[in-house]
Amino acid sequence: MKVDGRHFRTIWLEPDRWSVGAIDQRRLPHEFIIARLVSAEEAADAIRTMLVRGAPLIGATAAYGMALAMHADPSDAALDRAYKLLIATRPTAINLKWALDQMAAALRPLAPSVRGEAAYKRAGEIANEDVGINQAIGSHGLEVIEAIAATKKAGDTVNILTHCNAGWLATVDWGTATAPIYRAHDMGLNVHVWVDETRPRNQGASLTAWELGHHGVPHTVIPDNTGGHLMQHGMVDLAIVGTDRVAANGDVCNKIGTYLKALAARDNGVPFYVALPSPTIDFSIKDGREIPIEQRAASEVTHMSGRTADGRIEIVRVVPEGSPIANYGFDVTPARLVTGLITERGVLRPDHAALASAFPERTGTR
Ligand code: MRU
Repeated sequence: MKVDGRHFRTIWLEPDRWSVGAIDQRRLPHEFIIARLVSAEEAADAIRTMLVRGAPLIGATAAYGMALAMHADPSDAALDRAYKLLIATRPTAINLKWALDQMAAALRPLAPSVRGEAAYKRAGEIANEDVGINQAIGSHGLEVIEAIAATKKAGDTVNILTHCNAGWLATVDWGTATAPIYRAHDMGLNVHVWVDETRPRNQGASLTAWELGHHGVPHTVIPDNTGGHLMQHGMVDLAIVGTDRVAANGDVCNKIGTYLKALAARDNGVPFYVALPSPTIDFSIKDGREIPIEQRAASEVTHMSGRTADGRIEIVRVVPEGSPIANYGFDVTPARLVTGLITERGVLRPDHAALASAFPERTGTR
């Protein structure tokens, strides 16, 4: 997508043809900084520290991390080391394991002398595939938005609520939840997005608002607790969120707080859609209870960062010293609360039969 008129993806191969560029998302929305990753260790750090984040982008970064490892040392031992290093960075988004398995399957059979080139090729393909998948999600999701627009008076705004950042910053480009929104907006449909701030890291307020603003999509940032009130007053036509892992039965794991929005949506008859690329489906997990939920540092809750009036970025404490903290990064929305799964192969019922029939090639995978 465009930033100040220039097209960017979130991650790319630099002109030197071996190092990797990425947008440093820790600095947004205040500063647009490009990071250069030169080793598997730096790629792992980028994922761990959330320089890059969002399930599909975590996968693409891991793939490039493996390529950087092969650039430095294409041996079997280095491949195993890089896999172990990268897989340990974040536990919930299954795209990480998917991408590393893709890389390992492509590289293991090869002689070390050709692994470097093959690794960059496969990582580039994974990144390009993500863009294509998200464009297809955009087309299928557009039909959902158009159908809702057709139930309203011509020209009336379709109000869409989203949680966290499942936008282009969470993917290589286009986003998952945002792809249908960008398509609808670009086609001239009147869409407006309610952006959950998404404490504690504020991915909605800092990232989703930033990218929607840069694309000119009307939006309003709301505190996380506001969605239920808006739904009760008919101010939300549908919700579209992303996901970090979908279990075989259609249960959806996404950023903490998603479940509460789904409950409110059900109580108020608001359609609740989840947009996902197929690498986010984990057929090895029967239901959402088995999905590992990341617990993150207490400092994300105790402290907030922001820009002061004189332009400095400051971190301030918002919780009393000594209060214990719980910081679960994700929750699971049961499939029964999900209206539909917007995938690259169409909008599916959230159940095993529909997922397996749309993605038969994935059913045997772990
Ligand atoms: O902790 P994050 O910022 O990586 O969490 C991101 C989300 O929960 C997104 O909604 C999810 O990865 C879907 S991304 C297209």
